[in-house]
Order: sequence, then structure tokens, then C-alpha cells
Amino acid sequence: MVKLIGYKKVKTAVFISGTGSNLKSLIKFSKTRKSPISIDLIISNNPKAKGLKLGKINRIKKKVFNFKKKHNVENQILSFLKEHEIKMIFLAGFMKILSKNFITKFRGKILNIHPSLLPKYKGLNTHQRALNNNEKYSGCTVHFVNSKLDSGKIILQKKVKISKNETKDSLTKKVLFQEHKLYPKAILKFFNL
Ligand code: GRF
Repeated sequence: MVKLIGYKKVKTAVFISGTGSNLKSLIKFSKTRKSPISIDLIISNNPKAKGLKLGKINRIKKKVFNFKKKHNVENQILSFLKEHEIKMIFLAGFMKILSKNFITKFRGKILNIHPSLLPKYKGLNTHQRALNNNEKYSGCTVHFVNSKLDSGKIILQKKVKISKNETKDSLTKKVLFQEHKLYPKAILKFFNL
């Protein structure tokens, strides 16, 4: 067996706005031996985001930023990330759009998870829109973040079947279950592992 001597995990930050179930799955993954990343910061625009509680439980530093002044706040976040030697960012239910300037500073190092089979259903309310259009399948996508909303290069997708009596809630659950598996897989793929 190969022993990895001096192998250091890449320091990363997860950006959230809500429940943080993807954050939870990423934290779990980050603690496994096979994970090339550690999660060192949790960042949110929303002081009420439930996911922030995971910071305390897992002893991960968390910080809330006020997005009312976007330009200023992005610079504050960039300094904070630098201070903590963060090399990569995972967006997980983060409801703010990052500027081109911000994205350029982490070019190719920001990933997002989106609850649809992109390029279909960019933006919000994906499940209801898929149901309204009588789609047979939906799913989730992990992609690179570029300056256009939900449009960066796709890393991995998982398809789920929409059943006859599917509701928005049941589809949300079904897709989230897959999201929690897909994000770690996409990270392994990003690192060629
Ligand atoms: C997920 O469906 C994710 O794909 C989308 O927002 C939701 C966040 O859920 N971008 P959670 O906060 O990770 O539970």
C-alpha cells in the first residue's frame, strides 16, 4: 500500500445561504482519507442560514458577510480567504451571484451544485419548472462557475427519473439525495482521483 507522506489537503471554503445539507455531505467527505480537500471556512450571506450550525459542530470557522455593498463585501471575502490560505471554493446553495472580478481571482477553482440537468433549467425553482414541462427526468449538476449564471463547464451530472405522482417536495428530496453523492464525486474527478 502506498503511504502518502507529507500529503496535505487543499484548503477550501464552502459558501452557503440556507440549510446546508450539501455542506454537511462535503464535511463528511472531507474527513475521509480519500478526500483531497479540507473544509476550513464556511461563508454565508445569511446570518440565519441553518447550515452555519455545522461550523460549531465540526469546529470549522464560519463568517457571515453582508452583501448590501457587493463590491466592498467581495473584497472583504477575498482578504479573508487569503488570510486562511483558501485555494478553492464550493458553492452549495449560495444565493448570491459573484462578480466577474471575484471569479477571476479564483479562476477554475470555484464549483457549484445546481438542482437540474444543466443546461436545462438554469436559475431558481428548477423542480417546479421541470414538473410543469412534464419532463421525464431531472437531476443535478456540478459545474465550474463562470461569470454567466449556471453556465460554466459541467463536471458531473446525475439523472433521476420523475415518477407519475411526483411533487415538487418529493423531487427536491430525490434530487438532494443524489446531490450529496455527486458533489464529492465531482471533487474527486476535478483532482483526477
Ligand atoms: C440544493 O438543491 C443546491 O443544488 C441548490 O440549493 C440547494 C441547497 O440545499 N443550489 P442545501 O442548503 O445544501 O441543503
